[in-house]
Amino acid sequence: MTDPITALRARRVWDSRGVPTVEIELTAASGARGRGIAPAGASTGRREALELRDGGDVLGGRDVSMAVRLAEEIVAPALVGLDVRDQEAIDDILARLDSVDESPRGRPVGGNTTTAASLAALHAAAASRGVPAWAVLDPSPHAIPRPQIQILGGGAHAAHRTAVQDFMVMPLSAVTIQDAFLHVAEVYRTVGEVLAGRGPRRGVADEGGHWPEVSGTEDALDVLIEGIERAGLEPGVDMAISLDIAATQFAGPDGYHVQGRTLRTAEWIAELHRLCEKYPIATLEDPAGEDDLEGMQLAVANTGERTTVVGDDFLVTDAHRIAFSAGEQAVDAVLIKVNQVGTVTGAARAVAAARAHHLGVIVSARSGESEDVSVAHLAVGWGADIVKVGSITRGERTAKWNELIRIDDALGGLGLAATVRPIAGKQA
Ligand code: PGA
Ligand code: ZN
Repeated sequence: MTDPITALRARRVWDSRGVPTVEIELTAASGARGRGIAPAGASTGRREALELRDGGDVLGGRDVSMAVRLAEEIVAPALVGLDVRDQEAIDDILARLDSVDESPRGRPVGGNTTTAASLAALHAAAASRGVPAWAVLDPSPHAIPRPQIQILGGGAHAAHRTAVQDFMVMPLSAVTIQDAFLHVAEVYRTVGEVLAGRGPRRGVADEGGHWPEVSGTEDALDVLIEGIERAGLEPGVDMAISLDIAATQFAGPDGYHVQGRTLRTAEWIAELHRLCEKYPIATLEDPAGEDDLEGMQLAVANTGERTTVVGDDFLVTDAHRIAFSAGEQAVDAVLIKVNQVGTVTGAARAVAAARAHHLGVIVSARSGESEDVSVAHLAVGWGADIVKVGSITRGERTAKWNELIRIDDALGGLGLAATVRPIAGKQA
């Protein structure tokens, strides 16, 4: 059965930083509806799909009135009549509308619009079939992705208070999602106590992690370890640390700018290597800048079997870059963000490329988010190893974690995915 799209409605809604974003709602002939809201990054890679924003003075140039208008004028007529269940056909059109060469009037509609429309199509297809969105992708998932949860925010999400962007934890000994969150919530609380013991608390960063009142990366890691132990958990056994270095943010042509020093690639990676030896760091995301292939390769070669090197800005959810980077041994796992590539199908191809090259898969939200819970469905439906949506506070984060809990419940209580996949480049 097909279920043709009959209407597309676009509107300006708001994200977790008080910035406008695009929401799209699709309706099909059966009456099925689906909605999607585009998220937004703060530390974006230069190869990401480009958001369309108005520019000018209003709202710092970040309004989306033009994107909303183009969605109704250009995207709506292009999608109406297509089968809402045919995600690939819809996404193919969306990708064309966002290309300079193929878009009508030579004006790309914007990755924010294509992302919102593509997610809306996924949800409308689910409604059309009468199943949850995860079931459109995989009717019988066998595990729930392991949550990776921010405890301290840094980098571009905390006014560059620390160079490193994300200090996260990942439950290791927990076998169910409920146990995982019990462990993480306890660590969030105890880390708060550790910080309170050092002076006034400073609130939270963009993704809900504690604002890092610390002297630098090692101090932040010591705070995490102290919090894990205070929670009665064993670092590296019950709870691992995950870092998103987001090194593109402080990489320059002359090297990496960290705490008043400029380090060459080899020196910087050696410093990270030392941290990986000293602390139980399970995953290390973007240790090198988005153009530093050698830095990523060094990280993969140096950090040993215990640490999985993840590509985010370095890969931008691009299937070709993933295949290339796998061949170059530049990553062990890939971060998947739908809005980096602009469509669900583009991201699904990136997941397939990762699996074809035996790389781990982490499905991730952005630092600017909304109540949209698509990421939980995508992570389960794509069989991701890990899911990352920020901290365990703030509604736009808990919306996704709580959806993951509901999905697990609907599936009868699946176990969590194995911690890290076997990693091709590191087995020797
Ligand atoms: P961003 O941060 O959404 O600001 O890019 C998230 C990440 O880097 O993983
Ligand atoms: Zn990242």
